[in-house]
Amino acid sequence: MNAHFREMNTQRLDQLAHTARAVGARMLAALALLPLLAACLPPGAAAQTVVKAVARAKPISETATPAPTAAPAPTTAPASTPTPAPTAAPAIRAQPVSLGTNGGEWQFDQATLELAAGEDIVLTFNNGAKTTAHNWLLVSGGDDVATEVNAAGMASGEGAGYIPDDTRIIARTAGLVKGGQSESVTFTAPAAGTYVYLCTFPGHFELGMKGVLTVK
Ligand code: CU
Repeated sequence: MNAHFREMNTQRLDQLAHTARAVGARMLAALALLPLLAACLPPGAAAQTVVKAVARAKPISETATPAPTAAPAPTTAPASTPTPAPTAAPAIRAQPVSLGTNGGEWQFDQATLELAAGEDIVLTFNNGAKTTAHNWLLVSGGDDVATEVNAAGMASGEGAGYIPDDTRIIARTAGLVKGGQSESVTFTAPAAGTYVYLCTFPGHFELGMKGVLTVK
């Protein structure tokens, strides 16, 4: 029994030793090849990565430089676009402005107006009163000038539409505008500043029939 076991054990031990030797030899062979592989592969791989890195570094710097050169092109392009042409077109047309009375009250429906300097204006004054006549005058000044023009208008009489011959009048209706009627006045907006407009029918300016035009 013991002898038989010994034989079997020795046989197995021999087999194990053989396989161990074989595995060991393969491992040794593999280990021996590793340096060769290592000697061959790393330099190639390293060289490739370096080449790639350099190759990428150049395009990035090249693409970075064209970007600024491409940017000025669009900025110069809008400058040459004829955008001033369309903006110049509305300046030729007269700007319509509508101004009325606050119903039958001795007031304009707009206490303030705003225009652009040098703009051609067609102001249509609508007398919304039933019977009361009004006029519209724009003077080159503030309340002081308006007060003087108003006083001169009263002196000029109804026949003149209470409108005096005064160089400080920038624009005005031809005369009195009857209730329910309208009149258009064409003029060019003066230089930037504030101007008073008023009605010189006796007593109306004093009752507050005036407004301020702001020209920008
Ligand atoms: Cu009036």
